[in-house]
Amino acid sequence: MKPNHASTQPIGIFDSGIGGLTVAHAIVRYLPKENIIYFGDTAHLPYGDKSTAAIQAYSVKIAHMLLQQECKLILIACNSASAAAYELVKEYIGSKALVTNVIDPTVRLLKEKYASRHIGLIGTRQTVNSHIYKKKIDELNLNIRLSSHATNLLASAIEEFGDHQVLDSLLRVYLSHPNLRNIDALVLACTHYPVIKNKILEQYVSSNHNTIDIIDSSDIVAQAVKKQLETHNLLNANGVCSKHFYVSDYTESFAANARLFFGEEITLEHYPLWD
Ligand code: DGL
Repeated sequence: MKPNHASTQPIGIFDSGIGGLTVAHAIVRYLPKENIIYFGDTAHLPYGDKSTAAIQAYSVKIAHMLLQQECKLILIACNSASAAAYELVKEYIGSKALVTNVIDPTVRLLKEKYASRHIGLIGTRQTVNSHIYKKKIDELNLNIRLSSHATNLLASAIEEFGDHQVLDSLLRVYLSHPNLRNIDALVLACTHYPVIKNKILEQYVSSNHNTIDIIDSSDIVAQAVKKQLETHNLLNANGVCSKHFYVSDYTESFAANARLFFGEEITLEHYPLWD
């Protein structure tokens, strides 16, 4: 960290779109005194089907923008970008800000509570194909059996329909996949999914006839960010906070859906990062 970093500087949060607002909301709940700058790259949504190289290029440019806004910590609130670009963003930012992702705090929770268990995971194609969770779990020798399934259409369906029963048939198909049988817990490895976590549990139970824990990482990530700021003496005690929510492509439908993901009314502003 630069020695002149101040606790009043903002936390920068980014995602492929507005799904990361689920994490942003948890950050606001756990850290109500912090200044927040959120950037949703709606111009490139979804990241889940993009190449690793494309996600890396987008992520570095967004991180650069957040650094220009003097963020003290940059949170990659997207599993797909955390999988594809965390190491690169960290290297790019160096000591100019703290950088964190949504995967490591979840893996730490698995270590604490689920060692030697059978865990299922659903996420985008990018996240699942990266095998990032398995690599991190194996590095820690947790003896967890991880069974993943890519649920490609789910993020877009949630944006389109929200927590609507039309998602039930899609969930039934995804959650009855043989990879997800006989698991003890299911990791929601996409920041869009917490919006429908009750529906995911319901559909899992009705398709598999057993109940499981649902692991929604938003709260875990917010707690990890709080701890990281505490460790670096960067918690904002000031209490005068501002919040800005930017998107790279503004449409009425993103604006209308922002409430669904954030859980309360917010105003999205257009930030023409790619123009
Ligand atoms: N929110 C993103 C994630 O956590 C998924 C949405 C997308 O494909 O862009 O992976």
